Amino acid sequence: MPQDRVTVVDHPLAGHLLADLRDAGTEPERYRTLAERLTSVLVLEATRSLPTVTETVQTPITATEVTRIGRHVVAVPILRAGLGMLSAATDLLPDIGVGYVGLERNEETLQPTEYYYKAPSLDDASVLLLDPMLATGGSAAFAAKLLRDRGATDLTLVCIIAAPEGIERLTQSDPDIRIVTACVDEGLNDVGYIVPGLGDFGDRLFGTF
Ligand code: PRP
Ligand code: URA
Repeated sequence: MPQDRVTVVDHPLAGHLLADLRDAGTEPERYRTLAERLTSVLVLEATRSLPTVTETVQTPITATEVTRIGRHVVAVPILRAGLGMLSAATDLLPDIGVGYVGLERNEETLQPTEYYYKAPSLDDASVLLLDPMLATGGSAAFAAKLLRDRGATDLTLVCIIAAPEGIERLTQSDPDIRIVTACVDEGLNDVGYIVPGLGDFGDRLFGTF
């Protein structure tokens, strides 16, 4: 695994939230809340190295130096499962731009098909690509190329679970991407699902069983 590109958020709260996401008994309503909370933890880590600018503000007591985020951030969820991660990003960073990439993985060939793209300018932005599951890596690699072709330079995939196969494929096709994840699982089964994983994230999020 290319250690320098991958950050596993090893935090008790991340493990705790992931436990209930993995649990097959968790219903969509609670699933959405858990996904949002866990994404908040991941976005905190993904934005740790954002540049800051220094300003002076007047507190009720005195003038003091403060820091603010010094770069525009754009979040790009991969439809549809990435939608479950978007509100966490917009809650933490209310003035971010939001783009969308619509991809669906063919269940037999495991190849992604694009059905939608719309995003604001990515020039000089830190781009957070949101997709909960990095399985074969086909979808994330496709989306990353799309965003690079449209000007993304600083690109981070925020995902909930990553398979080693997906990390390998994504970092081979895009050596500069960063991956922030709650867990690296064992691998893929023979139909391309992450093991132990949590099943089909989009279906569990939206109740499409
Ligand atoms: C899932 C998931 C990823 C993709 C991962 O989406 O949200 O986008 O599969 O698999 P990969 O790494 O092998 O490409 P899916 O295509 O099932 O669509 P959905 O989000 O609409 O459920
Ligand atoms: N997509 C999912 O939702 N789950 C997996 O395990 C793999 C791809």
